[in-house]
Amino acid sequence: MINVTAQNQRVLSGMRPTGLLHLGHYHGVLKNWITLQHEFECFFFVADWHALTTEYDNKEVIGNSVWEMIIDWLAAGVNPGTAKLFIQSRVPEHAELHLLLSMITPLGWLERVPSYKDQQEKLREKDLDTYGFLGYPLLQSADILIYKAGQVPVGEDQVAHVELTREVARRFNHLYGREADFAEKAESAIKKMGKKYSKIYSQLRRNYQEKGDYEALEKARALLESQQNITLGDRERLFGYLEGEGKMILPEPQALLTPTSKMPGLDGQKMSKSYGNTIGLREDPDVVEKKLRTMPTDPARVRRRDPGDPEKCPVWAFHQIYSTDATRQWVVEGCRGAGIGCLDCKQPLIEAILKEQAPIRERALEFIENPKVVQNIINEGCEAAREVARDTMEEVRQVVGLVYNNT
Ligand code: TRP
Ligand code: SF4
Repeated sequence: MINVTAQNQRVLSGMRPTGLLHLGHYHGVLKNWITLQHEFECFFFVADWHALTTEYDNKEVIGNSVWEMIIDWLAAGVNPGTAKLFIQSRVPEHAELHLLLSMITPLGWLERVPSYKDQQEKLREKDLDTYGFLGYPLLQSADILIYKAGQVPVGEDQVAHVELTREVARRFNHLYGREADFAEKAESAIKKMGKKYSKIYSQLRRNYQEKGDYEALEKARALLESQQNITLGDRERLFGYLEGEGKMILPEPQALLTPTSKMPGLDGQKMSKSYGNTIGLREDPDVVEKKLRTMPTDPARVRRRDPGDPEKCPVWAFHQIYSTDATRQWVVEGCRGAGIGCLDCKQPLIEAILKEQAPIRERALEFIENPKVVQNIINEGCEAAREVARDTMEEVRQVVGLVYNNT
């Protein structure tokens, strides 16, 4: 059994397989995952069911993207030795939890999630007036809660989904975490910590409950985490008792806001497939070079001798990511003084991006040539994920009242 500390440290995130990854994914998401995998127990998965909520009429897209995306992850440096990589639909327990959560989730909560209306507007050509699409964030909640993940790295657009997850978890714990004699059991669990710690716990609990003192709440949690002598059940009870509700069955996760990707697209807007301004993570070097050479610059620089302003140029945004101070200074002076041409200015970027991609492309090749290796990685990840998911579901079925014994 895992202890509460380990649970709270668990990181979970998913990505929809809807096409090839680009440098925006790399700088915005993957590099972050790669950092996290050294610090935490990480679960990263292919959210194929989520992709299906919008791609239900397009059988090819998902199937074609799943393995490519996993190769992208591996090639970028996501390490299957530390992180568990899996495919959502291979852990059907997610669907079961989604169903059970749907029983207690008010429709209004889902209708109010901002991405619901936003995405419907944005993807007008599709019929997203579906049950599945409305449930998108709740399926995400199930993804998170089934692993009792403490931290969920997401972009800004997904924070509302983590917020919903917290509300759903709270409601679930409130409904199902109650035991008839919860308070008595909690009080007797307190005593098991010994005189000194019982007193500290009770004091901290009072400070939190009466004065809303969050520091006291944190201290009490830390105290519980450090207790060696109490059972897991008692520990869960005492975590729940702090907030007065009941047993904490599904812990509330925290959004770990990914620093917004500063990766600009070729046109200066955010890099995104829908804007058609991307550079693929493993794009052919010739294509990369061509895309950069033809990308727009400050329109004031019609001729080589016309001075320009880097602030008005998408190329400059790339220099922010890829260039040293010295190069940037060379750009600013050369641009404003018309000392360099735009192609000169782009040259160091072309080199930097090709250099960044070379090892990724090379590692990807190994995986492309050995699909079995990739398959094994995913099989192992799915198995590890299922083990955790199964445990949670056993507990969930129990508390919801779906375990029937006729003996
Ligand atoms: N909705 C997420 C996205 O579009 C993908 C996702 C699905 C996810 N389930 C998740 C992210 C659980 C974090 C946690 O990016
Ligand atoms: Fe942009 Fe560089 Fe050309 Fe200036 S010199 S307009 S920064 S590409």
